Amino acid sequence: MTPSTRRFQQRMKSHMITDFDNVPKPWLENKRPRDKFAYWIVYVLVFIGLAGGAVQAYFSYSGVLLDRQPLCLVMEENFDSQDAVFGDNGSFVREVSMDGFGNGEFSMATDSNNNSYVQDGKLYIVPTLTSDNLGNNAIFDGTIYNITGCTFNETQPNNGFLIGANGDKTFDTAGYTRACSAVSNKTSGAIINPVQSARLTTRGKSSLKFGRVEIRAKMPNGYMWPALWMLPVDNVYGPWPLSGEIDIVESRGNGIRYTARGSNYVQGSLNWGPTPQLNGVSKTYSWWSNKRVPFSDDFHTYALEWTDKFIRMYVDTRLHTLLELKLDKPFFQRGDFPAIIFNGSNPAALQNPWVNGTNATPFDQDFYLILNVAVGGTNGWFPESQGNKPWLDNAANPMRDFANAISQWYPTWPTNVEDRAMVVDYVKMWKHC
Ligand SMILES: *[C@@H]1O[C@H](CO)[C@@H](O)[C@H](O)[C@H]1NC(C)=O
Ligand SMILES: *[C@@H]1O[C@H](CO)[C@@H](O)[C@H](O)[C@H]1NC(C)=O
Ligand SMILES: *[C@@H]1O[C@H](CO)[C@@H](O)[C@H](O)[C@H]1NC(C)=O
Ligand SMILES: *[C@@H]1O[C@H](CO)[C@@H](O)[C@H](O)[C@H]1NC(C)=O
Ligand SMILES: *[C@@H]1O[C@H](CO)[C@@H](O)[C@H](O)[C@H]1NC(C)=O
Ligand SMILES: *[C@@H]1O[C@H](CO)[C@@H](O)[C@H](O)[C@H]1NC(C)=O
Ligand SMILES: *[C@@H]1O[C@H](CO)[C@@H](O)[C@H](O)[C@H]1NC(C)=O
Repeated sequence: MTPSTRRFQQRMKSHMITDFDNVPKPWLENKRPRDKFAYWIVYVLVFIGLAGGAVQAYFSYSGVLLDRQPLCLVMEENFDSQDAVFGDNGSFVREVSMDGFGNGEFSMATDSNNNSYVQDGKLYIVPTLTSDNLGNNAIFDGTIYNITGCTFNETQPNNGFLIGANGDKTFDTAGYTRACSAVSNKTSGAIINPVQSARLTTRGKSSLKFGRVEIRAKMPNGYMWPALWMLPVDNVYGPWPLSGEIDIVESRGNGIRYTARGSNYVQGSLNWGPTPQLNGVSKTYSWWSNKRVPFSDDFHTYALEWTDKFIRMYVDTRLHTLLELKLDKPFFQRGDFPAIIFNGSNPAALQNPWVNGTNATPFDQDFYLILNVAVGGTNGWFPESQGNKPWLDNAANPMRDFANAISQWYPTWPTNVEDRAMVVDYVKMWKHC
């Protein structure tokens, strides 16, 4: 007999329970309240969790700040023709200056088609080397460069005239010379701005107070500073920063390895304060970041939503917020400024320049739009000793140090002008009707 046939000769006795009634059921006899509690608590907690989640979701949804006012189109520019953009009645003005626009920028802003142009339905803003035009030696020595089309007179209050206490008008010759004329001199160390770029504005063309701005753009590549932003038309509360500045988006083209937030970051901010030294921007800026992908890789839509209750900047969707600020207290209170300031050695009580305003003041006046690409600067946008920064903001001549370090920054600029440029597909602005 093989072992397998022997296995079936005897049937195994079944141990299955057949008499259910007499089986001991200790869990039925011993009903401890604790067990009941343990049973129900699971369901109660699950319910509380779901209900709490629903309430939270409801409040997050209903708490989203939305602008429900009807909007009227102020301007729409799709960059279909160069003339419609830069012509006499064009939508933008090229601002031309060499004075660094108060930021110590090392680039000059030109009216040249080399630095701003319209092509295939898009606007390009491209930095180029000044040495391409003047030669390298001229930048460092022996040259006077008067920029063509300088717009100092048009962009300054009172056409560049300073008004004295007794009402006398004197032309701001020093300011005019800084903006319109540069001298290179090897002995003194003065140089001509080593980079040419462009700054386009809607100043005198279109502006808005409360509403919406939408710009579809691709950020530039390379060591540079692109910005889509707004300044007040009339400086109602005084000169910068008393009347505010709205930075819809600013970035650094410096690549994603840059250690002070490079091209995979976009930042939104508001500048405001009672004096230039007391700028409250550190309390009103924030950013959105793509972990790995630079904003120079593709077009994104940058938006500003602006009401007297809130200000929000975002990229592509409201879920990607650069900055969201609820205007729930006056900016002077938000600033937490010192009570006493010193003008030289004279102490003076700090005055609130917005004392008669609302929680939105100074962001309750008309602002115009600026599209620009700057290179370098000494206002701190490029933090010291980050990413091999080739100059110190407080050095004797930071622009010359930058120009001398061309082998550090120029290789970061793509040779292909279209890859280097900030490219803008469209701009739309609406205001509350
Ligand atoms: C610009 O607009 C004004 C007023 O609408 C008009 O008279 C003028 O001809 C326009 N100029 C050009 C170049 O289109
Ligand atoms: C544009 O650049 C070229 C060289 O790259 C130069 O010859 C020309 O003068 C520039 N045009 C202007 C208006 O600066
Ligand atoms: C350049 O500008 C300076 C300062 O404004 C002026 O003195 C000089 O005459 C100008 N030179 C030319 C060639 O226009
Ligand atoms: C700017 O205004 C001053 C003073 O009126 C004048 O001398 C100068 O030629 C003007 N410059 C331009 C570029 O309009
Ligand atoms: C260059 O700068 C030096 C030192 O400041 C000065 O003595 C000289 O006159 C300047 N040269 C010219 C051509 O302006
Ligand atoms: C500081 O004092 C100077 C000279 O008295 C004056 O012209 C200036 O307006 C003062 N600045 C401020 C912010 O008060
Ligand atoms: C605020 O209003 C008062 C009264 O009208 C006026 O005297 C004062 O100058 C105003 N202050 C400012 C900063 O506008």
